Amino acid sequence: MTAANAIRSDIDIHELCCTADLVAWSGVVALHQGHQIALFYLPQGHDRQGEAEIFALDNHDPFSGANVIGRGIIGDKGGEPVVASPIYKQHFRLRDGVCLEDPEQRLTVWPVRLEGDMVVLETPAPDHPTR
Ligand code: FES
Repeated sequence: MTAANAIRSDIDIHELCCTADLVAWSGVVALHQGHQIALFYLPQGHDRQGEAEIFALDNHDPFSGANVIGRGIIGDKGGEPVVASPIYKQHFRLRDGVCLEDPEQRLTVWPVRLEGDMVVLETPAPDHPTR
């Protein structure tokens, strides 16, 4: 999508996709300004007893060099939600993108949230580049 609706002057809100595009307990990939973003939807939260959670990580797997993270399997490691790369099976924490097997590697995490029936991404407005 190309629509960016400024609600606060220092933040741009981008509508990435509809919640109907999400797949529960799995990943889908959205395109934002040339970046492939893997969206993981946990409809009752990580512990399956709470509010819906959504996480967004780079789709690019640094180990295989392939754009496959969105096809990874969601799981739990030490009480934290993770996604396993479908190629070499490294686990990345959904909250911060850190690779559990090699903490020097981490996927970029994108600030997304559910708003009504949309998935929105918040980015700094162009004239507030440091926020
Ligand atoms: S540029 Fe497409 S949603 Fe932001």
